[in-house]
Amino acid sequence: MSSWRVGAEHELKITGLSHEGSGVGRLNNRVVFVPQTIPGDRARVRLVHVKERLAYGELLAILEPSPDRRTPSCPHAPLCGGCQLQHMAYPAQLRWKRQQVLDALERLGGLEVEVRPTIGMEYPYHYRNKAQLPLGRRKERLVMGFFQRGSHEIVDMSSCEIQHPSITRLALAVKRAVQELGIEPYDEVRHTGVLRHAVIRVSFSHGKLMLILVTRTRDLPRGEELIARLSREVPELSSVAQNINPQVTNVILGRETKILWGSEYLLDTIGHMSYAVSPTSFFQVNPVQTKVLYDLVRDSLPLTGGETVLDLYCGAGTIGLYLAARAGRVIGVEAVAPAVDDARRNAQLNGITNAEFYTGRAEEVLPGLIKKYRAVDGAVVDPPRKGCDPVVLEALAKVGVPTLVYVSCNPATLARDLNYLAGLGYTAGAIQPVDMFPWTSHVECVVLMSKVEK
Ligand SMILES: C[S@@+](CC[C@H](N)C(=O)[O-])C[C@H]1O[C@@H](n2cnc3c(N)ncnc32)[C@H](O)[C@@H]1O
Repeated sequence: MSSWRVGAEHELKITGLSHEGSGVGRLNNRVVFVPQTIPGDRARVRLVHVKERLAYGELLAILEPSPDRRTPSCPHAPLCGGCQLQHMAYPAQLRWKRQQVLDALERLGGLEVEVRPTIGMEYPYHYRNKAQLPLGRRKERLVMGFFQRGSHEIVDMSSCEIQHPSITRLALAVKRAVQELGIEPYDEVRHTGVLRHAVIRVSFSHGKLMLILVTRTRDLPRGEELIARLSREVPELSSVAQNINPQVTNVILGRETKILWGSEYLLDTIGHMSYAVSPTSFFQVNPVQTKVLYDLVRDSLPLTGGETVLDLYCGAGTIGLYLAARAGRVIGVEAVAPAVDDARRNAQLNGITNAEFYTGRAEEVLPGLIKKYRAVDGAVVDPPRKGCDPVVLEALAKVGVPTLVYVSCNPATLARDLNYLAGLGYTAGAIQPVDMFPWTSHVECVVLMSKVEK
């Protein structure tokens, strides 16, 4: 019987790691991806999904562990889809993240660019300021936590090593209260029930918590009792919002959000700046490393105080405002309108008067802005995973912006865009990976691009 079929068992030497954090081994020149393994492991695996040239395997046993293997300290590690690298020593994760960037450059960019060692965290635990926790039922029991790797089964969370402890405390209180008040969790198969997700945000600097109850229905039965109880049990709770998502979808948040109780925003601090974050705005999830990231951005741009600087994909305006004191004018562009409202409020909050923000897609808004302002002396781009639209890079090159800092959460699209920028006359300085997401496979990078003088 063929050994290249679902159910076949093999002994495999793991030699690489995919960008999703699965170990990679080879069987007669065909590739096998095995979650829970890392380079250096020799493992027994069973093939669970087989294509012509590649397969996915499940780990049956580690026959010989990699020197970089560790015993996960989280009880949910084998199932939970939140962390992919709980079984890899932290220094090895940092080395691997740098390697991911080098590989992406080689594979997709073909560029010779220096990649510095990843800047890691001194204490790589409890760093997340946000959790998005689905609720459901398993055998009549209420469960709440994280989706299992590659499935919609919910891992019933009792502890979490990467989120701030206050998040876990509030999450467990929400679960108890929902159970006791008989609030129906969402059933995604039947599209019935009420409560889909509890999204929790915490302010590291003030210790306050925001809870966003994502509901299928407009009505939230016993909502007032729920809030009264939670505010009593968790005194740090300062804000409760409801987001209504009636769609059959995997997208967590719906379009409509209303504040049910307490403050409209959560206030947090990064370095010298205060930021107000509303329930649905993007805010970096690791505030400790965000300071490292923003300092790198600020220090990369040669600013003397008179420059016009663009902050594209600006979210709540956080990066642009961070460097506003060193620039003449900051112009932010962001697609999500409430984030732009936050950005304007954040400018006020910090007494910044030289920042303006525009709502819209960067590729649509930027060409018009460039016509309006004519000279642009520097730019920051911090796009989502899919990277920058070429129109954005072309517009920046056309106006002749001398330096631009690219902040990326995806090495593959970073490599693609650096290549594109090279074609437009820009050279890349050293790429600096920053570990914003310990124990997960995500890699964040900062790189300064400079226009080559002709
Ligand atoms: C990685 S976040 C960066 C946010 C911000 N720079 C920060 O550090 O918090 C990317 C942001 O780009 C926004 N976005 C996505 N597509 C966009 C587009 N085409 N034009 C403008 N903004 C976009 C998202 O809403 C999100 O706020």
